[in-house]
Amino acid sequence: MTTTNERGGTEARPNADASTPAPQDGPAAASAAAPTGAPSIADHAAAEFSALHGRPPAGVWSAPGRVNLIGEHTDYNDGFVLPFALPYRIAVAAAPRSDGVFAVTTVGDDGRPQQAEPVRIADLSPGSIGGWAAYPSGVAWVLRAEGFSGGADLVIAGDVPAGAGLSSSHALQCATALALLGLAGVDPDEPDAPSRATIARWVQRSENDFVGVPTGLLDQTASLSCVQDRVLFLDVRSGEMEQVPFDTSSAGLAVLVIDTKAKHSHNDSGYRERRAGCERAAALLGIPALRDVTESGLGDALASLPEELRPLVRHVVTENTRVVRTVEHLRVGRIADIGDLLTASHTSMRDDYRISCLELDLAVDTALDAGALGARMTGGGFGGSAIALVASDAVASIGERVKAAFAARGLTAPGLFTAVPSPGAGRDS
Ligand code: GLA
Repeated sequence: MTTTNERGGTEARPNADASTPAPQDGPAAASAAAPTGAPSIADHAAAEFSALHGRPPAGVWSAPGRVNLIGEHTDYNDGFVLPFALPYRIAVAAAPRSDGVFAVTTVGDDGRPQQAEPVRIADLSPGSIGGWAAYPSGVAWVLRAEGFSGGADLVIAGDVPAGAGLSSSHALQCATALALLGLAGVDPDEPDAPSRATIARWVQRSENDFVGVPTGLLDQTASLSCVQDRVLFLDVRSGEMEQVPFDTSSAGLAVLVIDTKAKHSHNDSGYRERRAGCERAAALLGIPALRDVTESGLGDALASLPEELRPLVRHVVTENTRVVRTVEHLRVGRIADIGDLLTASHTSMRDDYRISCLELDLAVDTALDAGALGARMTGGGFGGSAIALVASDAVASIGERVKAAFAARGLTAPGLFTAVPSPGAGRDS
């Protein structure tokens, strides 16, 4: 089974379904969340590889999902984003093949391996592969163009909640990229090797041109370049990155992630339409991207645009400012002060960008009502997850209030877990 994700792409983990619990379901378990996902997931992938192929893999590489603290739909407008890596990962166990064939198997949440039709790397072309296998195949396709065209056997396992707007598909793509490069002897942390930023661009190209989804650079960069205990302040235009401290527990705080389980699979065109609207607005304003509209120039810019484009532009410009303000607070350790910025970001996405939905609004409003310092949807929208900044000792009570609100409306129970910034992609063994 494949499902359609919030960007209109297909989900990368075919055997996962909407009722799959989040890795740590419930606020009590969630408060113990720690960045320990990598070893067991990597071991799982290696064991499945050995069982399937009768030999051990040459190596295992893994990459995390992400939440974006703030800075939504700014990436394809050349703006600012501020993600951190989740403690949940996709691992790829891999070994080279000498016949130029790419054979990929995924182990679903039900434990059953599902193998895609093996394909010669030389035969890969956009549109040639559908469903979940398009994601790893697209990476093989783009790496072929970059001069890495060796065949490989891959076995995938992971614990990033699928379809939750937490970038499971990007985790898969990034782990695949590191695995295929690793088999070719390339380690992005060695001097002269393609950098993580370069690999993120390749992964983006594979998604845009092979899978056919016009996403920006947020998720790949988060998965590849985030580090433990930090949020990543990325200026998408310049590529400049700053690892900003984000020690919530010392501040007596936690980020509660609320997977609403809402998948608006028929909203495929929503992401594309928003992006096209932004590009049209930039063209009408005669600027390369909406990044170039300043806050002081916003009024004039809005006045010169057709009415339907104004809310899009207002969201992007004010969201960039909110990211910068958030970073200013975090640089001086004032985590509690970012709450209002998070909530303002949600309001802007709900009312101006119009990418929220009943479940996301309910999660945000209930969390705020129950005492969260700030809350917002995270990711592409139209379903997926919200985040709330909460006092550590209120995680359980706020989580219970959110669950009760969903139950009272007859909605599927949300998945709840707390998350701390965790390590980015790398080689496990
Ligand atoms: C999705 C896309 C990203 C970004 C976000 C919205 O996650 O993959 O590139 O545009 O939506 O911020």
